[in-house]
Amino acid sequence: MPESTPDTQHSHPPTAPQPHRVAAKEAAFRWVPIRSLSERHRHRVLTHLLGLEPHDRYLRFGYAASDAQIGRYVDLLDFRRDEIFGVFNRKLELIAMAHLAYLPDHPNERHLCEFGVSVSPKARGRGYGSRLFDHAVLHARNRYVEIMIIHALSENTAMLKIARKAGATVVRDGSESEARLKLPPESVGSHLEELVEGQAAELDYRFKHGAHRVDQLFDLFHEVRVGMAKAGRSTIE
Ligand SMILES: CC(C)(COP(=O)(O)OP(=O)(O)OC[C@H]1O[C@@H](n2cnc3c(N)ncnc32)[C@H](O)[C@@H]1OP(=O)(O)O)[C@@H](O)C(=O)NCCC(=O)NCCS
Repeated sequence: MPESTPDTQHSHPPTAPQPHRVAAKEAAFRWVPIRSLSERHRHRVLTHLLGLEPHDRYLRFGYAASDAQIGRYVDLLDFRRDEIFGVFNRKLELIAMAHLAYLPDHPNERHLCEFGVSVSPKARGRGYGSRLFDHAVLHARNRYVEIMIIHALSENTAMLKIARKAGATVVRDGSESEARLKLPPESVGSHLEELVEGQAAELDYRFKHGAHRVDQLFDLFHEVRVGMAKAGRSTIE
């Protein structure tokens, strides 16, 4: 029986929904601004990935990547060839990111891309992972990609759930799984959706940038006042 089917045959009390499920359901109705990242965001990508715990690094990269290995991965990111997307919080910290890598064509397979994602531990269960996935699908469709591939460890319930929900076929090979999602062709609607989303995310970023500058000014003002108060006290003493 599927997990979500209500069990009418037994009289067990319904089990309480897990927090990550409740949060993800609520998040499904919230718009998430997703920005395309560029060269100037490289250091933020590094900070975000270095913030992942060893187990998350293992889930993200398939091995327990060291700081140096993450550094090399970030150095090699090609922002012009691949697509790197991100979600920023009010403090302009990168709290979630996705890497959509276009794969070279093979004789039997063309127009493929690979998707990888990470969400900061404190921002999980809010639907960011799912939203980044949907965003990547939209983006890839509009660039004539036909198949999106996701390599995940078989234990990675959250990632495989996102992929399955989108209709991907998951093939398990021991501890590793490969999910393949056939993308629908691009359409006028998909291009329009990408355009509107991109512009709205840009506006959101500019707004946060403005708010962040105001916060920084307040902090500076506070520091100056504290400094002046201290200087005043030491003159009196
Ligand atoms: C995988 C990951 C990106 C998910 O991000 P997230 O923002 O927490 O995911 P969402 O909130 O969009 O949740 C997606 C679905 O997974 C479920 N889920 C989330 N965390 C879960 C967990 N720990 N166990 C089981 N299911 C979970 C949610 O309930 C939701 O399902 P629903 O839509 O049926 O309710 C995040 O856990 C992560 O960064 N992990 C480490 C790196 C990684 O594993 N990357 C993927 C390999 S490329």
